[in-house]
Amino acid sequence: MSKVIAIDGPAASGKSTVAKAVAEALHIAYVNTGSLYRAVALAAQRAGIPLETIPEGFLKTLRLTYRPDDSGKYELELDGAFPGAELRTAEVAAGASRVAAQPAVREFLLGVQRGFAGERLIVMEGRDIGTVIFPDAEYKFFVTATPEERARRRLAQAGEVPDGATLAEVARSIAERDRQDSCRPIAPLKPAPDAEIIDTTGMTIPEVVAAILRRVGADSTQRRS
Ligand code: DC
Repeated sequence: MSKVIAIDGPAASGKSTVAKAVAEALHIAYVNTGSLYRAVALAAQRAGIPLETIPEGFLKTLRLTYRPDDSGKYELELDGAFPGAELRTAEVAAGASRVAAQPAVREFLLGVQRGFAGERLIVMEGRDIGTVIFPDAEYKFFVTATPEERARRRLAQAGEVPDGATLAEVARSIAERDRQDSCRPIAPLKPAPDAEIIDTTGMTIPEVVAAILRRVGADSTQRRS
């Protein structure tokens, strides 16, 4: 069994915030795998490579590494530098969803993600962590919310939507990402059969975090006794 708390879910479901808080509460490392797909899209855009088909040769030139900060949170470095806010733009998010449908990209990033598993429990967040990357993860959660609620949450996140975007526009771009992420033939977004599904509509972030910690904590208490 891999020592991983897998937290999957659709765009703007709140899973990053939740995953980060769970990792902080447990004092363990947190890895956001969406950053990897975003970094591939960003690097391709910078190099003027069309996003439709990312060549394998180009992927091999990318240096994608995670460096832990003082809190144990892993921050992605692309070619030796933190891309920071550039990774969070709406354009890069849409590009990430497009490159994520390509088998060569997923194959390339599979090894990077599996390299994180080890002796110590980690929190890893994405779309296919519980289904493809770590099907044997110790804990699996699928965090979701209604499309309306997710659009409201995304609109509230500064820097992630174009200036002046309306709720309807944000809802449309989220729906398009849901469609792309769920309908792709390879590693589509879906809950693992053994994942605990948490519909966070109407829940606060601390409530979701507490639900996950209860499950993880209850398990470790049972194992000790
Ligand atoms: O979680 P995010 O919004 O940063 O993810 C950006 C895109 O990357 C998302 O639309 C789909 C893709 N992705 C993926 O296919 N598999 C993952 N494990 C994480 C992200």
